Amino acid sequence: MLENALTIADLKRMARRRVPKMFFDYADSGAWTEQTYNANEADFAKILLRQRVLVDMTNRNLATEMIGEPVSMPVALAPTGFCGMQHADGEILAAQAAEAAGVPFCLSTMSICSIEDVAANTKKPFWFQLYVMRDRGFIENLIDRAKAANCAALVMTLDLQILGQRHKDLRNGLSAPPKWTPKHAWQLATRPLWCLQMARTKRHSFGNIVGHASNVGDLSSLASWTKEQFDPRLSWDDVAWIKEKWGGKLILKGILDPDDARRSVDSGADAIIVSNHGGRQLDGARSSIAALPGIVEAVGDRMEVHMDSGVRSGQDILKAVALGAKGVWIGRPFLYGLGAGGKAGVTRCLDILRNELDITMALCGKRDIREIDTDILDRQPGL
Ligand SMILES: Cc1cc2nc3c(=O)[nH]c(=O)nc-3n(C[C@H](O)[C@H](O)[C@H](O)COP(=O)(O)O)c2cc1C
Repeated sequence: MLENALTIADLKRMARRRVPKMFFDYADSGAWTEQTYNANEADFAKILLRQRVLVDMTNRNLATEMIGEPVSMPVALAPTGFCGMQHADGEILAAQAAEAAGVPFCLSTMSICSIEDVAANTKKPFWFQLYVMRDRGFIENLIDRAKAANCAALVMTLDLQILGQRHKDLRNGLSAPPKWTPKHAWQLATRPLWCLQMARTKRHSFGNIVGHASNVGDLSSLASWTKEQFDPRLSWDDVAWIKEKWGGKLILKGILDPDDARRSVDSGADAIIVSNHGGRQLDGARSSIAALPGIVEAVGDRMEVHMDSGVRSGQDILKAVALGAKGVWIGRPFLYGLGAGGKAGVTRCLDILRNELDITMALCGKRDIREIDTDILDRQPGL
């Protein structure tokens, strides 16, 4: 059945049929009007590629580096909360698929499987994403746990100290584990395979938090928990503090403005991710792909720039790389794969993207991803 999925949109349709509504909607939603969520995808389609012919297309290479780590293609799996609710043990399965595919996996603070769980079930060091909370003791402890698990990079998320409202989550009464109301019971009853797989695992709540953070209120409600725990006073001084405490490679996630990008260079971080959190935070902000060129110009070659939000195909990856991204991160594409078919679904997602990227690069007349630049773009007047 997974072989029938030819595109990320196919995986999305399959996931919709297998994942209970509240969790599918959690992935497939943006903040408020979803203007930015929609723009993230739509703006990629406005960028055109140059078709070139009669050039040698043999021996193509997609392998490159992200923050000095070799990757088989310039793609990383973005940190996503509740990943283990798209499929039982979701973070472990996605990390294993990423490892086999030779691309980085980044575990979210708000994951269902814990740092230790993922470390015990993978061989290669993964990356860890940090949300900074008011309880600094808990944050120090999280950083120590990521170090103990041998995580190779820390991704500090900057654009979610306050949660953007997502109407679907509120209407669905999203929680992990799901509540036992008739509405939720019906959503589960209509997804028996998901329930069966969930019944076989003990991982049903936020593994990095339960049993580690003190004074945890209603953890099952992400909205109220974020409000209670996340620190809205987060500042550049905290970036310096985290950098020192972590001591390893640091990536800042959620930069959308050239001024913030310039500030990031001074922070000493190793890379930034141009991101609007997949359109889940500031509705009305520009798409990440539209923001990318201005940020690349602002930082020059002083820092590595990555991007995420809206990547749905190999063509999108190539366009982002052409505009200066050293790598792209994918959220929903791999979540749809996970929901559609667990580890094999994530592998399918990565195979689809790799194949599209490879053929598209060839049709643009290029053989090496490391040599891609704006030369492959069709700068049609008026676009
Ligand atoms: C369901 C879901 C959960 C997410 N959870 C987190 C998270 O816990 N931490 C974080 O930094 N970003 C989180 N993000 C944002 C992603 O890391 C990434 O920025 C975004 O998904 C990229 O957009 P895309 O989904 O269009 O690829 C989440 C995104 C989704 C879709």
